[in-house]
Amino acid sequence: MTTDIGRDVARATDRTTERPAALSLRGAGLAFGPRTLWSGLDLDVAPGEFVAVLGPNGSGKTTLIRVLLGLLALSEGAVRVAGHTPRRGSPEIGYVPQQRPLDPDLPLRGRDLVGLGLDGHRFGIGLRGRADRRRRVCAALEAVDGTHYADAPVGRLSGGEQQRLRVAQALVGDPAVLLCDEPLLSLDLSHQRTVTRLIDERRRTTGTAVLFVTHEINPVLPLVDRVLYLVDGRFRIGPTEEVMTSEVLSELYRTDVDVLRVRDRLVVVGAEDGPVDLHPCHRPRGHDGDRAGPAVSS
Ligand SMILES: Nc1ncnc2c1ncn2[C@@H]1O[C@H](COP(=O)(O)OP(=O)(O)OP(=O)(O)O)[C@@H](O)[C@H]1O
Ligand SMILES: [Mg+2]
Repeated sequence: MTTDIGRDVARATDRTTERPAALSLRGAGLAFGPRTLWSGLDLDVAPGEFVAVLGPNGSGKTTLIRVLLGLLALSEGAVRVAGHTPRRGSPEIGYVPQQRPLDPDLPLRGRDLVGLGLDGHRFGIGLRGRADRRRRVCAALEAVDGTHYADAPVGRLSGGEQQRLRVAQALVGDPAVLLCDEPLLSLDLSHQRTVTRLIDERRRTTGTAVLFVTHEINPVLPLVDRVLYLVDGRFRIGPTEEVMTSEVLSELYRTDVDVLRVRDRLVVVGAEDGPVDLHPCHRPRGHDGDRAGPAVSS
């Protein structure tokens, strides 16, 4: 699988900062048996930087996040997150998983789910920590507009309400690195704005580095410092204006793709995939192995 384009551009555009990278991949590759998802991936994400990860279904976005969470070992290369080899349950990492509904009978309230972001990785908390814990959980709930349903059983909440709790859980521990896997899916526009503002504010005030997987770049366009675009083993890393071009996406998809700027939005039109689909996030999702053509961002 060729990755030369990605390798060259990654090296050319990687930022050198005085601060140590919050997240770093060196010559990283991941293969499942004979299938290589990506290889030769070099990426340093600086504290406070926002990197959007885009690509069609099955291109390896969630797999990359699983590597950064320490749930999956690289096939080649090295990875460091917050200065360490990633390990399961690291308090330095906040994680918003790709959405799946919670069990309706799960015996947890919203505030319990959020609290797991503070102490889910260790046993028990001291008495002195309890007031602080309560305060932080309340603040996190408030920030996602979740206070009014904080005591309801989580499994009975709507998909968007559950998703806002996951965002609160990921942020409540003030992580050095925030890994988000399509966190805006199923949120209405107003709550998309709440969540994107919250993440933006957090990275600016506390220097949280953000890796944000999304099929829809427009809701986060003003926040994006760089894009990592993965397609079928090829990738490109760079500032939005360098990656989100007709030329680059046509090269990655190996077919004609047009990228148009309409006011402050990017519209990506895959020449081969027929009528323009303006709502890629609302169409039925394929299984993980699906290879979709380029999404059309509206
Ligand atoms: N443990 C595994 N063993 C074998 N193949 C796997 C494993 N985990 C993931 N894959 C395959 O790797 C590919 C990439 O999966 P991944 O979930 O990373 O895709 P994705 O880019 O997140 O896609 P989507 O946009 O649909 O969420 C898929 O084809 C998937 O079936
Ligand atoms: Mg995924």
